[in-house]
Amino acid sequence: MIYTLTMNPALDRALTVAELTPDDTARVTEETFYAAGKGIDVSRVIKELGGSSVALGLVGGYDGLHLEGLLLNAGVLSDFTPIGGETRTNILLREASSGRHFAISASGPQVTAAEIGALYEKLRGLREPEYLVMSGSLPRGVNVEFYGQVILAARARGAVTVVDADGDALRAAVTHAPCCIKPNIHELVRLAGRPLESEAEIVAAARELLAQGIGEVLVSRGRQGLLLCSPARVLKAVGPQIEAQSTVGAGDSVVAGFILARSRGLEPGECLRWAAAAGAGTAMTPGTELCHRQDVEKLLPQIVVSELTA
Ligand SMILES: Nc1ncnc2c1ncn2[C@@H]1O[C@H](COP(=O)(O)OP(=O)(O)OP(=O)(O)O)[C@@H](O)[C@H]1O
Ligand SMILES: [Mg+2]
Repeated sequence: MIYTLTMNPALDRALTVAELTPDDTARVTEETFYAAGKGIDVSRVIKELGGSSVALGLVGGYDGLHLEGLLLNAGVLSDFTPIGGETRTNILLREASSGRHFAISASGPQVTAAEIGALYEKLRGLREPEYLVMSGSLPRGVNVEFYGQVILAARARGAVTVVDADGDALRAAVTHAPCCIKPNIHELVRLAGRPLESEAEIVAAARELLAQGIGEVLVSRGRQGLLLCSPARVLKAVGPQIEAQSTVGAGDSVVAGFILARSRGLEPGECLRWAAAAGAGTAMTPGTELCHRQDVEKLLPQIVVSELTA
């Protein structure tokens, strides 16, 4: 089974108003709620592409129940750990008259030591964990070393560990040699601590990470596609020129496509193809919307995968 872990999920509340005017009331004309958070995105895309996974993480309060219910109705399996604090709500506001978008992101609840302990016990007792994908930031109250501890626990159970995080949480996770990390170019630059302009510089930075025991470094570069660096070789995927609407969630979709293909036993080059098609599929959809299966299937044969020579 594929498990995803979202430590700081959110209930996204997307509102449309005709026009925003200071000191005046704007009436909401449309309102939609989404279950959000990077690991949850991965689970939602896996479901869209015909696979299944179990979403793990911390949820609390009425908004946490709402998030859980949205996933249930979407057919996404979950096994959340309850917390006393309230799951955060992000406001995504669209002004119809101008087409402008505003995103107001909340920091999320403070988590207690007992709640972290309960989640960790759940992780240690997972049934047949083949893949464990850790995505996104850690909430207040959780030490940056947490993903490292999760990697140790998952490895002890024989699971392939995947980390998609940024900053200190990623830096700490890397020291525990996860099987795979999926930095975007900005995250890789921060991890390397130096600018990375050319493809050769990116590959060199990825090789330094491989030397620390990481199995694979999957670098996402927006419209420039993906690089999959492993000790044996470097593969590259470039997609067709698409009309990108919003790339929010494209990286999460990459992780979903890659791990789903891997769980189906496909070759690394084909896994990379699925990753790139899912990422591009999400870039084609507006706002926070994720990819559609039909688009991904159409994109698959258009992705060019090649091997870089040293
Ligand atoms: N404009 C685009 N055209 C084609 N493919 C794209 C475009 N933007 C993104 N993609 C695909 O999606 C992948 C992931 O995008 P990106 O590098 O922006 O991820 P990210 O920054 O981690 O995103 P997020 O964290 O918001 O999910 C790219 O490597 C590429 O394969
Ligand atoms: Mg990302």
